[in-house]
Amino acid sequence: MNGNLQLNADGSLRHLLTLDGLPARILTQILDTAESFISVAEREVKKVPLLRGKAIFNLFFEPSTRTRTTFEIAAKRLSADVVNLNIATSAQSKGETLLDTVANLSAMQADMFVVRHASSGAAHLIARHVEPHIHVVNAGDGRCAHPTQGLLDMFTIRQHKGAFHNLRVAIVGDLLHSRVARSQIHALTTLGCPEVRIVAPRTLLPRDVDHLGVHVHYRMDTGIKDCDVVIMLRLQNERMQGALLPSPQEYFKYWGLTPDKLRHARPDAIVMHPGPMNRGVEIDSDVADGKHSVILNQVTYGIAVRMAVMSLLAGG
Ligand code: CP
Repeated sequence: MNGNLQLNADGSLRHLLTLDGLPARILTQILDTAESFISVAEREVKKVPLLRGKAIFNLFFEPSTRTRTTFEIAAKRLSADVVNLNIATSAQSKGETLLDTVANLSAMQADMFVVRHASSGAAHLIARHVEPHIHVVNAGDGRCAHPTQGLLDMFTIRQHKGAFHNLRVAIVGDLLHSRVARSQIHALTTLGCPEVRIVAPRTLLPRDVDHLGVHVHYRMDTGIKDCDVVIMLRLQNERMQGALLPSPQEYFKYWGLTPDKLRHARPDAIVMHPGPMNRGVEIDSDVADGKHSVILNQVTYGIAVRMAVMSLLAGG
């Protein structure tokens, strides 16, 4: 989907909007580039000059802790000038359209927009309207995609497990509303993971589940059995319409990851979660803070992965 909008004629990355349709060559290039940026954090001056003089605008129309902050840190480590538009006090509240806001910021010599929006397709819309030298990164749109989260999750898996070709990965929970899960599934299948399972109650499965190339499980014990990686998803109450679940307590009983349930996975399994976590709903604190958890590593790797994406887009 939108492969041509994302790639230049020479096959290099122009925008990052979705992982759906992006070739393994590009995904691997991003992961390899991110690896080269890990050491920047260990320097006394945590900076490289790759984006010096470039202006990056963070446009977050939905709340965010991890994504917005790590994009800002990543841009600063690349020496870019970063502007965080405060949506609440912007002219959006006076009725300015999304494209008018973008046109005005483009007139301030923007080089890149990092966009989070509740509406699926918002970043694609912007990418179709910006001038050729401006790059757009989707930082999460509706239920559609969260490509840099998917990439930082792949980076985390690669750091801990080495490769994808021999892994069994389970993605557990609210797949119906999850843009993160879609990006993870596209990345895992493109990178050669032989068994991607989704584990969820029937009410939280997307309608197009049969087309995603995954194995569907309706029970936690069989769903995560012998898995190398268990990815827990947040229950996205803000996107739920109607009663899809009995209660948070009952959800935790059947679908929450506890130390007992985790015993079904491989002894060396890693546990991941994109955050924010609902402790006691989809994950028990003993697991979230336990020895299998790499949840905070995901956050740290997000900086290097976002540095990689921004430098590949605008650093050439
Ligand atoms: N994982 C993630 O997107 O978290 P934030 O909403 O805090 O950015």
